[in-house]
Amino acid sequence: MSSPRLLADRKREVPSDFDIVAGTYDTLVQRNPGYVEHLQLSASRLGLPDGGRGLRLLDLCCGTGLSTAALAATYPHAQIVGLDASGGMLEVAGRKVGLIRDSVQFVLGDAMDPVATLATAMNVAKQDVHFDAILMAYGIRNMSDADACLDRLLPLLAPGAPICFHEYSVADSPRAKGTWTAVAWGIIIPAGLITSRHTRIYRYLWRSVMSFDGVKAFEARLRRHGFTDVRTLPVAGAVKFDFWQDGILHSFLARRAATT
Ligand SMILES: C[S@@+](CC[C@H](N)C(=O)[O-])C[C@H]1O[C@@H](n2cnc3c(N)ncnc32)[C@H](O)[C@@H]1O
Repeated sequence: MSSPRLLADRKREVPSDFDIVAGTYDTLVQRNPGYVEHLQLSASRLGLPDGGRGLRLLDLCCGTGLSTAALAATYPHAQIVGLDASGGMLEVAGRKVGLIRDSVQFVLGDAMDPVATLATAMNVAKQDVHFDAILMAYGIRNMSDADACLDRLLPLLAPGAPICFHEYSVADSPRAKGTWTAVAWGIIIPAGLITSRHTRIYRYLWRSVMSFDGVKAFEARLRRHGFTDVRTLPVAGAVKFDFWQDGILHSFLARRAATT
């Protein structure tokens, strides 16, 4: 496996890799049992009241809008902003706006430092960019500097607001690492080759999951960056045949303290 610096450099290229596979992304992931249901489960774990009425939500690294659709289905009254750094993925998302919700806004920007982009898109001052909840699905693992990203995300949350990182983590378990390696090299990478004729992003996917924090390490990282109420819930079990993700896919939940 490559050095942390090489991997950080590689992560900066991830959005342009997603440009290449954007047109086939939905076809691939929707063959993964439970992909949509899992996103909905993590979205529901944000625990927002009254269908999100009057609330503003951020879907960070929204990709083609599958996670945005999960938020919209769970919180039909919320105003939702989706942000991603891949123009190709956002183009696919943009075609779904009417299907997801007319009021959803998709924004091209870098999740490593999104405040200025969001302020412009929302037509507010930088210090007024606040969300009542954030979902980051399959995103934090791709950040070139997870610590810097977390420092910038905390102030984007309104006081007391929740955040959910829907993410793979295998570092704590030899069984999870073995299952992940078998599924990535036996199914995901060949399926990527068939659907998009590319494997680079899917080989990176395997490597990025293998090198991501274990559950306890990520929880500790969140606490170090000032998040409170940190806890992790399993995701698999939502549908038949999603068992391979048991112990691999998690909802990492936290919130900004109510008073800071
Ligand atoms: C695996 S996809 C997940 C998409 C969506 N959240 C879902 O659940 O289907 C990861 C997304 O993260 C985006 N991404 C990676 N690095 C990023 C960055 N620095 N800023 C914004 N988006 C980024 C990629 O462009 C890609 O669309």
